[in-house]
Order: sequence, then structure tokens, then C-alpha cells
Amino acid sequence: MSMTRRGFFATVGAGSALGIGGALPALAQQENTGELPRPGKGPIVIGSRNAMAAAARAVEGMRKGEDPLDAVIRGINIVEDDPEDDSVGLGGLPNEEGEVELDSSVMDGRAHKAGAVAGLRRVRNPSSVAALVMRRTDHVLIVGEGALRFARAHGFKEENLLTEKARQVWLEWKEQHSDHDDWLPPEGTEKKKEFGWKTRIDGSDFTYGTIHVSALTPGGDLVGCTSTSGLSFKIPGRIGDSPIIGAGLFVDNQVGAAGSTGRGEANLQNCSSFLVVELMRQGRTPEEACFEALRRIAARTEPRLRNPAGEPGYQLKLYALRRDGLVGGAAMRPADAEMVVHDGNEAKTLRMKTLYGG
Ligand code: GLY
Repeated sequence: MSMTRRGFFATVGAGSALGIGGALPALAQQENTGELPRPGKGPIVIGSRNAMAAAARAVEGMRKGEDPLDAVIRGINIVEDDPEDDSVGLGGLPNEEGEVELDSSVMDGRAHKAGAVAGLRRVRNPSSVAALVMRRTDHVLIVGEGALRFARAHGFKEENLLTEKARQVWLEWKEQHSDHDDWLPPEGTEKKKEFGWKTRIDGSDFTYGTIHVSALTPGGDLVGCTSTSGLSFKIPGRIGDSPIIGAGLFVDNQVGAAGSTGRGEANLQNCSSFLVVELMRQGRTPEEACFEALRRIAARTEPRLRNPAGEPGYQLKLYALRRDGLVGGAAMRPADAEMVVHDGNEAKTLRMKTLYGG
């Protein structure tokens, strides 16, 4: 059974949330078959809220016959190249020493192969390097200096990824985040506020911003990519979930694809993307699978990461695309709880349901 395009819009386009409960009941009953019916439609592309341009580029590429993973990566390259996105590629916020370190993974459901780089410096497109790890090595993950040397070998340009804007944000953090060091803000500038656990100068949480995109081809194949500069002001060498297959990205051509943005540590401890795909295999809708993963993560969250109400105080968003074209997502908290869905004709930004309010 497959949804018509009209059915797709009725599912994800209605209302302010991804209200997909009840969609495709016949599929939902097909538990533990291990394989869902082929969709016979697409391309369908989903992604994080910063993936609008990437999704459009991915669909355009696939429509022109481009390899679907290349189409997704070229879409993600747009955001990696954008100095205004402070969470990905060029212009990403740096580690605590002011150095930008990038993580990315790709996964191709057709061959069930993956590639990733982590802690990559001075190369703005880690997703493209990750694809080469998958296609041109016998490895899955290359990190740090080895990743840079590998990128160099493939002719990637090296550059300073710290934009002037990101440098100023980092320097302000350096000067403002503690009273117990020797960094002082400019003369006449007061300490702006108390810096609680991972609070940025602008009052928002530290950024874990990231881009995730998954795509379904008309033939029923799935690919995905996640790319990030990771946690802002991290300890040098800190690696998040994005380059870890099963955490920040997982694709199973027989079932679906899943990816994540938000607090990578929570994801790493729970293998969330793998879990979401496995839950879809067992018959959960994409949205139900994302919620179940979030519930487990929330239940296991340590006390220091909980707010006064006892809820996880961090944001974590999960995105899922089932092999039959059904899409869904869920977020831990309401802040920026949006995702992009492109049905092959147009892209929309959709509000995600959240596990906690407020
Ligand atoms: N989810 C991105 C990170 O934690 O690095």
C-alpha cells in the first residue's frame, strides 16, 4: 500500500504539527515484517529546520537524475558554505580555543554503507569528505588530523573557518562566561548576566545546531546525511552524535531513515537514530518512533541536566522518513521545534510535536 501525494499533504500539511497518528493503519499493523512496501512515489526529502535550501537542492538534483546521496550532500553543502549558519561548516561556532571542528556522516541505504569524519578542521564541507570515506576507503570513520590529511589527499581547499562574526561571539563568550579567569570584556562593559549551565550570551542555550537531511527516491531507496560544527565552545576534540552511525544518522533501505539535531551526548548514550529505525521496523509510525526514543532518553537523563520541573532541560530533535514515504518527527522541547518536509513538489516548514511544553 502506498499513499497518494494528496494523502501525504493531508498527513503532514494539516494543522501546526505533524499529526500523523492513524495514517496508514494497514502499515502500522505490519509488525516485525522487517520490510515495508515500496512507495512508488517521491522523491521525498526531510530535514532539520535549517534544511529548506538543502531539501530543495536535493529534490532538484534527484529530479535531474543525480545520484540521490550526491543530491543530498550538494544540498547540505549550501548550508556548510553559508557563513551565516553558525552551527554548520564555514561560520560554525568554534571550540573553546576558537578553532572550528566539524563532524559529518553519510549513509547510503542501497549498499548499506556509511562514511563519516569527526573533528575535521579547516575544510568547510565535511559531508563531502564523509562521502569519500564511504566510497574511496575501506573505513567508516576518520577523525582529526587523519581526516584533514584524507581531505587534503582528495584536493579539498583548506581555509580558516572562523568567520569574523563567529570569532566575536566566541571572544564574547570567553570574556563573559566566568569571573574566575583573566579574560576581561572591553572597558566599560559589564558582565551581562549569570552564566548558568550552558547558557549563551544571547540567553539561548549553547548551540548544538546541526543540519540533517534524509531522502527517499521514487524507486524506494533511502539516503541520509548529518553535518555540524557541534557543540559551541566545546572541549577541543569533543565529538557529538552527528558523525556516529546509529546516533546522529541511520538508514535501513528496508525500513526507513532517521537523523537528529540537538544535544549529541543524549543521542550518543541512546543510539537514537538506530532506535527510531528499529521502532519503525516494529510497526511504529515515524512520529511514534521518535517519541518513544525521546521518552527513553528523557527517562535516562541525569539530574544535573533537568530543569526545576524535573524535565530534560536540553533540546533534542529526531526526524524520521519511512520507506513508504510517511514522515514524522518529535522534539524534546518547543524551542525551534520545526522540521522541513519536501514532498517532491514543494518544501514546507512544519511544527514538530514535543515531549515537554513550556
Ligand atoms: N547534535 C550535534 C552535536 O551534539 O554535536
